[in-house]
Amino acid sequence: MAVYLVTGAAGFIGANYVHFLLEQEKDAQVVAVDYIGFAGNVANLDQVIDRITFEKADIADLEVMEALYRRYRPDYVVNFAAESHNDRAILGPSAFMRSNALGAQVMAECSRLVPVRSHVHVSTIEVYGELAAGDQWFTERSALNAKTPYSAAKAAGDQMMRAYMQTYPEMNIRMTHCANNYGPFQLPEKLIPLAVTNVLRGRKVPVYGDGLQSRDWLHVADHCAAVHRVLHAELGTTPAAAATDPGLLPIFDISARCEVTNLDIARLVVTELGLNASEWIEHIPDRPNHDRRYLINPAKIESQLGWVPVHNFAAGIAETVAWYVEHRSWWEQVIADKGELGFDWSQVGPAATPR
Ligand SMILES: NC(=O)c1ccc[n+]([C@@H]2O[C@H](COP(=O)([O-])OP(=O)(O)OC[C@H]3O[C@@H](n4cnc5c(N)ncnc54)[C@H](O)[C@@H]3O)[C@@H](O)[C@H]2O)c1
Repeated sequence: MAVYLVTGAAGFIGANYVHFLLEQEKDAQVVAVDYIGFAGNVANLDQVIDRITFEKADIADLEVMEALYRRYRPDYVVNFAAESHNDRAILGPSAFMRSNALGAQVMAECSRLVPVRSHVHVSTIEVYGELAAGDQWFTERSALNAKTPYSAAKAAGDQMMRAYMQTYPEMNIRMTHCANNYGPFQLPEKLIPLAVTNVLRGRKVPVYGDGLQSRDWLHVADHCAAVHRVLHAELGTTPAAAATDPGLLPIFDISARCEVTNLDIARLVVTELGLNASEWIEHIPDRPNHDRRYLINPAKIESQLGWVPVHNFAAGIAETVAWYVEHRSWWEQVIADKGELGFDWSQVGPAATPR
């Protein structure tokens, strides 16, 4: 029976991955780790709580994490844990540096001290920075060019993963960069669940600035399948040429090549709820330093590992909207626990303290 240690397991993607994993491998032993930061919600694991071991722990604490590794001896590790909200990172960058950079290194160090079969570090498209209007997409060979506190902290973690991959190749560290995810269990501070939960409470959907910021969208279930594929892939030895060519490192970019503006996402959600988009969307002041465009090319994971996304975007959005409609008690409890989740940048500035 394989032992999986999954961090960030009470967050959006981590919880979806734990559900996916237990569907794939009925007898997997899953150790779910989360320090229950702002986005953490143990209720995301309610349906599987009897089948997992939950550990409340901080991945940036080496002593605590090494003890967990020694207790459970994981075969496979997936590190989803991160502080993930760009708006919140502007108000308080330090927590992001701790989880996303130091936490990434501590997790790799634990996998070095207590060896595992493979270790996937989950990173993001955002480490590549903003895609120029005329450029087609980023690839694994693109330079890291993060410019927000969230993405810069993730990029710092990325650099450390690259250093571990090259220095300790026997460790089987892999890394993924994924497009924006949508699906169930996402905290309603992110665009899609914020839009649905606002409308269901009779409020308009706030869209930052002109809403023409363009994002690359992927269903969370496709992301989970891709991470699982990377975790179990037989990759062979990394060639020496990887020293100067990051495209040869065990790094995989994940996307459905689905580029949509934030304004169009808001329109889709409102329309899906049977309302008139022009009446239910309001443009509000943009957050500072908002990246305009992302898109990555998943050709490497498609050709080398045979992964392809299976979720159609329109159907996936419709299912996602329906999930939030049907799980009203889940998000009402989240809002009751955490307070209102939208940001109004005309009221808060970059120097403000986090709420
Ligand atoms: N959401 C997206 O669209 C997206 C896209 C690409 C990559 N990612 C990456 O995927 C991962 C998961 O993202 P998400 O959207 O599920 O985020 P999330 O904020 O919903 O969940 C992250 C979880 O990690 C936990 N966490 C944070 N710091 C921790 C620490 N130091 N120790 C233990 N737990 C900690 C939080 O409590 C939370 O439960 C992140 O690494 C993120 O960078 C997200």
